Amino acid sequence: MTIKTVATRPVDGQKPGTSGLRKKTDVFMTPGYLENYVQAIFEGVGGIAGKTLVVGGDGRFFNDRAIQTILKMAAASGAARLIVGQNGLFSTPAASNVIRKRGAFGGLILSASHNPGGLHGDFGLKFNMANGGPANEAVTAEIFARTKSIAEYAIFDAPDVDLSALGETMIGDSAIEVVDPVTDYAELMETLFDFDLISAMFRDGFTMRFDAMHAATGPYAKAILEERLGAAPGTVVNAVPLPDFGGGHPDPNPIYAKELYDLMAGPDAPDMGAASDGDGDRNIVIGRGAVVTPSDSLAMIAASAHLAKGYTRGLSGVARSMPTSAAVDRVAEKLGIACYETPTGWKFFGNLLDTGMITLCGEESAGTGSDHVREKDGLWAVLMWLNIQAARKETIAEIQTAHWAEFGRTFYTRHDYEAVDSEAAGGLMAHLRSRLSVLPGTTAAGLEIASADDFAYADPVDGSLTTGQGIRIGFASGERLVFRLSGTGTEGATIRVYIEKFEPDPARHGEDAQVALAGVIAAAEALAGIASRTGRTAPDVVT
Ligand code: G6P
Ligand code: ZN
Repeated sequence: MTIKTVATRPVDGQKPGTSGLRKKTDVFMTPGYLENYVQAIFEGVGGIAGKTLVVGGDGRFFNDRAIQTILKMAAASGAARLIVGQNGLFSTPAASNVIRKRGAFGGLILSASHNPGGLHGDFGLKFNMANGGPANEAVTAEIFARTKSIAEYAIFDAPDVDLSALGETMIGDSAIEVVDPVTDYAELMETLFDFDLISAMFRDGFTMRFDAMHAATGPYAKAILEERLGAAPGTVVNAVPLPDFGGGHPDPNPIYAKELYDLMAGPDAPDMGAASDGDGDRNIVIGRGAVVTPSDSLAMIAASAHLAKGYTRGLSGVARSMPTSAAVDRVAEKLGIACYETPTGWKFFGNLLDTGMITLCGEESAGTGSDHVREKDGLWAVLMWLNIQAARKETIAEIQTAHWAEFGRTFYTRHDYEAVDSEAAGGLMAHLRSRLSVLPGTTAAGLEIASADDFAYADPVDGSLTTGQGIRIGFASGERLVFRLSGTGTEGATIRVYIEKFEPDPARHGEDAQVALAGVIAAAEALAGIASRTGRTAPDVVT
């Protein structure tokens, strides 16, 4: 086995986005593309000689090939140890846990999250740091800089490693350790939640459907829900990870997880429905006839987390991404704890979690998590909801109704316009930006604008400033609109419009969100001119 040094040239556009580098799979498969980026990571993080790295992904198409390349390159760069999930699998939160538990220098996670897989689908690669969380902006900037100056990369000329067998092999002086991806994670969950209480609830007839969407969480959900907690066999559906996610789109939204939403709205609904995404960090929780929005889920978990054994001491603080609704703010206020508002992207929670300023955080994009790892965690959220139901002896619908009665309801919806012409989307945002100073005091579709700004965040721990994170429009009557461009799309631009309205009156809590928010939705159109600028008269996805 020898190390080859291969001459290469910079490739345009290898700039990490909200969550690492995301591109079409066939772009990632272009000879040298992956290699360039991996070499840029190794150099951008300051070299990996003598270090331990965790490697794994969500099992999507090209996962297996890319991992072999990464292992051979890491060995060529002198890594001491590479901890790889069996068959190349790790859910993102499980990878985060292993990085922390094993004291690794970091990890490479291969996933494009909720985006579809396959040759014409999406692929992604991100670097997580020693705290288990996504690399911060300073590190991703360094990686990007290396992609622009790269001249060569190093790779071992070695046979592929057998990733199906547990145990250790060597490439040169680097140990390749293939581990069961589920064990450590399941053990961690057992320290956080009352497994006996949840098992008793299942024994008493509690029913559930968990849709793993043929993605990474299948093996985790089977092992934990069915094997350890005793949920009925078949509770976990689409449990086998497949390279093409069974032809589906591993995003647990009302369109791609329609079957689950329909089931939960119908007469045969089990007590709880839940689903996760491609790499297992997102979650959606649905009660019988009661969809819980991710923003509400964060607020409701914040209000009841002390019922789970890992959180009995209460929460030190909470955080939400800026576009996430203010529902959790009211819970924090009542609990007398701090609530931070961060830019979109889990990495922005890292410092707050590391310093113990927060225990719990979440995003409107179906992400909830806590200080147990440094990623959002789909199955964790599902277990938290099981624990809360078991402890409160109430259904999800009952918990939701009671929460709204106590804290008021924030009606919330997000409208996505996908694969929009990039120039049109950029023009729409630029137009809004140019009007920020003149909007306050004017009206949009009859609603008076009280404030307008472009969200910027000064990290309270390291002082770093992140600007241009989305246009916020606040209305005098309390509604809020946010406009931003997605940082995870791979085709054209995705415009996200986030719409919310606080409703204190319980008599109105049963209304449909789209109806309750119609006035604010009209204001969004009036302000941004979405239809005239993009040619789209309706959003592609409504969550
Ligand atoms: C990923 C990130 C999240 C983020 C989401 C949506 O899942 O981990 O932190 O909220 O993408 O990001 P986007 O930029 O597409 O709105
Ligand atoms: Zn994900």
